[in-house]
Amino acid sequence: MRFMAIRNILRGNDPALLKTSRIITDFNKRLHMLLDDMRETLVEANGLGLASPQVGVLRRAVLIVDTEIADKPMEEQIIEMVNPEIIEECGEQTGNEGCLSVPGVYGIVTRPERVKVKAQDRYGNYFELLLSNTAARAACHEVDHLNGVIFTSLAERFLTEEELDRLAEDRTENEQDNEQKPDL
Ligand code: NI
Repeated sequence: MRFMAIRNILRGNDPALLKTSRIITDFNKRLHMLLDDMRETLVEANGLGLASPQVGVLRRAVLIVDTEIADKPMEEQIIEMVNPEIIEECGEQTGNEGCLSVPGVYGIVTRPERVKVKAQDRYGNYFELLLSNTAARAACHEVDHLNGVIFTSLAERFLTEEELDRLAEDRTENEQDNEQKPDL
């Protein structure tokens, strides 16, 4: 019996964050432990997405939180995706984006409004998923991590201290809303 463990999230310009992660071919206990630990790490960090290279594992596994699965605890909103690929995208959204590996920094990034993702589950079964809004943003951000791309290289500009303060005030009025400053 092994309990889940919180893993250390790599920060800043750790070289592992700039590498391309490899395809996963073994859907074994080791992968399941990685995904379980990533879940625990994501919940603890209160983020909306996490990619395996962020915990130092250069394999293609990501989690995203689909906040449109309403009225469920965060654990049940987490979607595991192994070897994810964005196979269709449409529309455009421009908004705030942050990253658990770049704490305190938020930028304005344009992403597709909706995406279709093809991925495998932890047992190797293929599935496709339509995602929109923040979940679509999260899927793009996490797939970028698998290719060594950090959102800071895509941001058209970064939020100022003043803008961050204003968001913090909004957040106290509207408690549950970490979508205004999603950490992905
Ligand atoms: Ni990130």
